[in-house]
Amino acid sequence: MINQDTISKIMETVRIEEVVGDFVSLKKRGTSLIGNCPFHNEKTPSFHVSVAKGIYKCFGCGKGGDSVHFIMDHEKYSYPEALKFLAQKYHIEVEETVQSPQNIEAQNARESLYIVSEFAAGFFANELWTGDQGRAIGLSYFKERGFREDIVKKFQLGYSPDVWDALIQNAISAGHKEEYLEKTGLAIRNDKGKLYDRFRGRVMFPIHNFTGRIIGFGGRTLKTDKNVPKYVNSPESDIYHKSNVLYGLFHAKKAIRDTDNCYLVEGYADVLAAHQAGIENVVASSGTSLTTEQIRLIGRFTENVTILYDGDAAGIKASLRGLDMILEEGLNVKVVSFPDGHDPDSYMHHVGSGEFKKYIENNRKDFILYKANILLKEAGTDPIKRAGIIRDIVESIAKIPDDIKASIFIKECSSLLQVEERILLSELNKIRMAKFRKSGSGNASAGNSGVGSSGFQQQNQYQPYPDGPPDNLFEVPGAGAEAAEAAAAEESDLLQEQEVVRLLLAYGHELVSWDQIDNMYIGSFIMQNLADVSFTDPTCKSIIDTYNEEIENGHLPVASQFINNENRKIVELAITLSTSPYSLSENWYNKHNIYVRDESVNLKATILGGIFHLKKGKVARMLADISKEIKTEQDSVNLEILMQRFMFMKTVEREISKFLGTVILK
Ligand code: UTP
Ligand code: MN
Repeated sequence: MINQDTISKIMETVRIEEVVGDFVSLKKRGTSLIGNCPFHNEKTPSFHVSVAKGIYKCFGCGKGGDSVHFIMDHEKYSYPEALKFLAQKYHIEVEETVQSPQNIEAQNARESLYIVSEFAAGFFANELWTGDQGRAIGLSYFKERGFREDIVKKFQLGYSPDVWDALIQNAISAGHKEEYLEKTGLAIRNDKGKLYDRFRGRVMFPIHNFTGRIIGFGGRTLKTDKNVPKYVNSPESDIYHKSNVLYGLFHAKKAIRDTDNCYLVEGYADVLAAHQAGIENVVASSGTSLTTEQIRLIGRFTENVTILYDGDAAGIKASLRGLDMILEEGLNVKVVSFPDGHDPDSYMHHVGSGEFKKYIENNRKDFILYKANILLKEAGTDPIKRAGIIRDIVESIAKIPDDIKASIFIKECSSLLQVEERILLSELNKIRMAKFRKSGSGNASAGNSGVGSSGFQQQNQYQPYPDGPPDNLFEVPGAGAEAAEAAAAEESDLLQEQEVVRLLLAYGHELVSWDQIDNMYIGSFIMQNLADVSFTDPTCKSIIDTYNEEIENGHLPVASQFINNENRKIVELAITLSTSPYSLSENWYNKHNIYVRDESVNLKATILGGIFHLKKGKVARMLADISKEIKTEQDSVNLEILMQRFMFMKTVEREISKFLGTVILK
């Protein structure tokens, strides 16, 4: 286990904006920083970072926490892994207390995969630079292709000797386990149970995740034999998920953020070539077709993607459709194509780094216009083909979630295709309506406010149920009105419990003197008044219990101790309650038809209101329970007792209402 001193040191040192800023592009808004949430797909930022509090919170998906939680959620790290990651980032030495071997084993399983991958990369690099085969074959290959040594080193390129077990032998004698070599796919076990190296006689490209750890490899053959696959790649493993990895992202992310653009290429060689030309904001999809996850990964850093294409036209047309996916994710797509069948790598070596850089800067075309041009050229003067193009282009435009952008494209395409804007708009409306109907809800166009023509605007207004709501909209499965009522009551209980917890965290430390009380902390006051209330929500209950305990021990808890808590639920609730000061109470007050402009103006009313509304809710539930019992009770004595209890609670309820009426409403 990491010792407490180390944890404290880490917590004191980390800066939330730096930790989050490595993964999310943040912009200043008011006192906080905002960006697009990395935990759910969104196009307008609802992810807030509070530098002062050291926490983040997404108002879209609800995720929140401190720096450690961010790394845990983002990197899928365990608590100690996240702490170690942060320690490394801030150069803090980690001191650990001794643990049982089983514990170490379990915790380190994933870590071991990283470690053995790192070892393998080191081995391959060493072979490349110092091995006889490596130097003669591998290194000279890179040199022949024109790659500089600093680039080869930067990407930790290597060479796997052309023998069956070079890596395995080396790894085992360095103390690595066969199990991890196998789990990373670096070694393969044959039918006879014998282990052999996956990569043999290949130049090696380590693949980093975007925090810079090696998670897999691509190995390129140097043979011209057509029967040998050009690349052999690591298989999927616990640390390598191909669909959400982009080659080069680790080396590119800073430049992507700085330039607010990401170049997308196809191959490893293209990434190296771009870097050699001084262009670092470049990633490769590595041969597989681009996935939505990869696009979102880019979207965390920038909204602008520029595709660097191979020159040959056959491939271009096939990939046009794939690019619609990028539009759909709300990114702006530009395209650069290279002349004479060149790919970025060959073109860079052909014209040199300076010219290359100029070329891609001067030849960016907007994807939609680029697509329109290509299709137009292909169609020639054939009117039927030209009509088909219109639909094709408008389909791409319909993918763009931002209506202002879409309307600009409609304008531009109108002049390019020589078609009236009105016609393009009506086509766009048709496509959007079709999508809207298909999705069965307003989702498809919920973000769109309408483009251009007024006709479209009308059709496009948000309508959750265009054909009227379904009959069963409010039905709770397996029950009728009673269950629905119970659910509503529970929901309102929850809101009221949360409201009291919020007040506790927000005002617990304020000293007040009201009527009979003199110089008392609001925290203590609330706890005294809640002595007879039992909380049903486990998270609220646990906060209240802790608060009580601490008060009994002479401490007054602070909100931050719930924010820096081991219990995830508590952390999330504490953050929600402390970062959205009025949102909760707002809907809570609305529910009770009370208009409060600023709760701190009349703190007494606010606190008492919170306490007594909660109590009133509890009393109402008790009344409901009692009356249910009364309905079914047969025994007359019991019935009498129930009736008395009912009457009593009724009085309590009236008293509370009266009290609330005087305190809150005046
Ligand atoms: P390329 O054939 O363009 O490879 O495939 P490259 O990286 O530019 O290599 P050179 O220039 O021929 O040396 C593009 C990408 O497709 C994947 C690799 O990730 C490669 O970088 N690929 C290609 C494979 O995974 N397997 C293959 O057999 C071929
Ligand atoms: Mn290539």
